Amino acid sequence: MKIEEFEMERLQSTWENRVKYNLSESGVHPLLLKELTNKDELEELISLRLGYSQTNGTIELRGAISQLYPGSDIDNILVTNGSSEANFISIWTNLKAGEELILMLPNYMQIWGLARSLGAKVKPFYLKEELNWAPDLEELKKIVSPNTKMIAVCDPNNPTGAVLSEKSIKGIVKVADRVGAWILSDEVYRGAELNGKETPGFWGKYEKVIVNGGLSKAYALPGLRIGWMVGPKKIIAESWSRHDYSTIAPGIINDYLASLALKPEMRQKILSRNRKILNTNLALVKKWLSNHADLFKLISPQAGAIAFIRYNLDINSTQLIIKLLHEKSVLIVPGDCFGMDHFIRLGYGAEKDYLLAGLDLIDETLKEIQSKG
Ligand SMILES: Cc1ncc(COP(=O)(O)O)c(C=O)c1O
Repeated sequence: MKIEEFEMERLQSTWENRVKYNLSESGVHPLLLKELTNKDELEELISLRLGYSQTNGTIELRGAISQLYPGSDIDNILVTNGSSEANFISIWTNLKAGEELILMLPNYMQIWGLARSLGAKVKPFYLKEELNWAPDLEELKKIVSPNTKMIAVCDPNNPTGAVLSEKSIKGIVKVADRVGAWILSDEVYRGAELNGKETPGFWGKYEKVIVNGGLSKAYALPGLRIGWMVGPKKIIAESWSRHDYSTIAPGIINDYLASLALKPEMRQKILSRNRKILNTNLALVKKWLSNHADLFKLISPQAGAIAFIRYNLDINSTQLIIKLLHEKSVLIVPGDCFGMDHFIRLGYGAEKDYLLAGLDLIDETLKEIQSKG
């Protein structure tokens, strides 16, 4: 099996722990373990027996997840190691060589690379900058075919932070229904909406829907490596038996802590803490951008901790990022990782002072490039 490099993850894996300012992250500044647990829970945690956990996720955790998807119960849920494993299993289970996948772009490129490595035919449909990163449904209608096995979307979207409207969701469902295609919706940023209004998402809108989510982004708990798949029971059962081959089970400590994070009161506390950080920091980023109004264009993200910024400088995005890396020890993601040169993806979920210090260093590089131009 030939596999293409997952460029963004490789870049992050290589550099994120070596740079002084990592602004490539797409999640919010992570929580501390002690912020998640009270005294009794901490006691329970250290008394946990470190055996295998229930391989598809404990009943407590699947119960808490199913509360987020009305009409589902614990047999509609498979707990995975991160939403990346949920994506992996969804594609591995449902897509074969020669089958057709329509993929929303730009996107987190995991599904793109995976589907292609399995020999599937991947057809893109685009979020349009001129439509404030909404999809053009006419384009989707044109490319769908009787061979389309699946349509994969990311909502809220990485990298643009755009949220699909109810109208777009309905439109995508209609197109999928016409040819009986599955919809795979990666909703790992759901809960990180800046206005606090949770993305409606695809669950309950169509029978052939798989929704993937997790705690890494909106919940600021990437280190727990807890994700999930929500789908029809038959698909979840099939995916569970694939999970036997991938990682068997989530870690028992992670499963326990995830159940705490999803208790209604704690969940609300986490989401409002994160929303506050995101709104404060996005305002700082916008102020910074306004100091360079001639250079940058941002369609304001509606969710997540990432800003996808178009820049007007005569330098390729990878070259710009490499310059920042080596000269200023700052890491951001080049638009090239999404097949879109002259964009950068800036993570703004970090602590305020850290973010500002990173932006100052980017400023220095911009001035140097401009003075040479
Ligand atoms: C859209 C999207 N899906 C999935 C993932 C994987 O996240 P994790 O496995 O940490 O939950 C990411 C990570 O950046 C992402 O942006």
